[in-house]
Amino acid sequence: MTDDLALLGGVPLHPHPWPSWPIWDHRDEEAVLRALRSGHWGRLTGPEVSAFEEEFALFQECRFGVAVPCGTVALKLALLALDIQAGDEVIVPPYTFVATVGAVIQCNAVPVFVDIHPDSYCLDPSRVAEAITPRTRAIIAVHLGGLPADLEKLCAFGLPVIEDASHAHGSIYKGRKVGGIGTLGCFSFQASKNLNCGEGGIVLTNDEALAAAVRAQSSWGEGSSGQILGSNFRMTELQGALLRTQLARLPEQAAQRDSNGRLLDSLLKGLPGIRPLPREALGCDRHAYHLYSFRYDQDVWGLPRGVFIDAMRAEGIPVDPGYATPLYEWPVFTNRRFGPWNGSMEGYASSENHRAHCPVMERVSQKEGCWIKQSALLAPPEEVQLIAKAIEKTWGKRADLARLL
Ligand SMILES: Cc1ncc(COP(=O)(O)O)c(C=O)c1O
Repeated sequence: MTDDLALLGGVPLHPHPWPSWPIWDHRDEEAVLRALRSGHWGRLTGPEVSAFEEEFALFQECRFGVAVPCGTVALKLALLALDIQAGDEVIVPPYTFVATVGAVIQCNAVPVFVDIHPDSYCLDPSRVAEAITPRTRAIIAVHLGGLPADLEKLCAFGLPVIEDASHAHGSIYKGRKVGGIGTLGCFSFQASKNLNCGEGGIVLTNDEALAAAVRAQSSWGEGSSGQILGSNFRMTELQGALLRTQLARLPEQAAQRDSNGRLLDSLLKGLPGIRPLPREALGCDRHAYHLYSFRYDQDVWGLPRGVFIDAMRAEGIPVDPGYATPLYEWPVFTNRRFGPWNGSMEGYASSENHRAHCPVMERVSQKEGCWIKQSALLAPPEEVQLIAKAIEKTWGKRADLARLL
């Protein structure tokens, strides 16, 4: 029967592949060849990385950019530029990729986990106040999936704010592009990201002295007259050249994701037991939609989230459950074995953070959170509409799924 659930032998609603990622053509090939043929493969002698730094900073409406090999290093150098020292505390959300928190550990500093807001899945400013101590030196705000964190309230604490904008290329918060609203902004250009060159990252800032400090950290003290040791975290020219052509495509792709995300919001709003995250109320004017997140209410559906996701995948809709385990429950955090970064272990153990408990995060990771990756939003709107149709179909047949339990 055509209206049977695909999971139970019916016909999938979306049997075709979604747009593949990355997207490239002869322009990207020519750019990489241009860098290759120039013989200048490193930033110190070639023009590509410097040009990309300027172009991306301009795109994000920020003054300075320092390109680095990945988003993890971007976060680490942002922390070093702020002179974060061993034992300093840095407030972080637990609902993020491990790199956000790992960068803090790698500075021998102490991550302090603060719960996320149930509407945004980003750091909840109302919980930040109670986590601030005399040792708190910075806040890392992750714009999860591209939805901006509440930067107005987070910046009002008067502490340096690092924006982890790894998911948020082009996102606009209250009329301003993210990345330059906090003290420093960090982006990843890893293969899955909305702007990518395989692996890469950048630190943005409007503060000239901080930009100089990041540059020095990224290139063995470059420009610091021997005051900063640093290391070699320079991007290569081949990556810089590729990022420039990829960046030229980003505005159009970003507009398409944003418009398809709005379409999905409008279609999902009326469905039972499904709630999109309320972007307008959160001050989000442009959503990068690295992830299209929505909330699944398993009590309304009478089905565990895993069964709903299996049914959606069988229909050809690529739904994921998101980050499954709070980072503070990972064995490496409960055992506090940070290998070469054991300098932070003492602070971590004594700060009680290993006993962090973030009820919103736990509900989202265990029952509620669902997301669809960015490339699906590059499909034509008629296909994107099938996501809502598949949810409706699954809702209509949920009794058949319940019988499987
Ligand atoms: C939220 C977040 N922060 C940081 C990173 C680290 O970026 P990279 O993989 O480029 O080191 C990622 C990458 O997946 C991420 O998703």
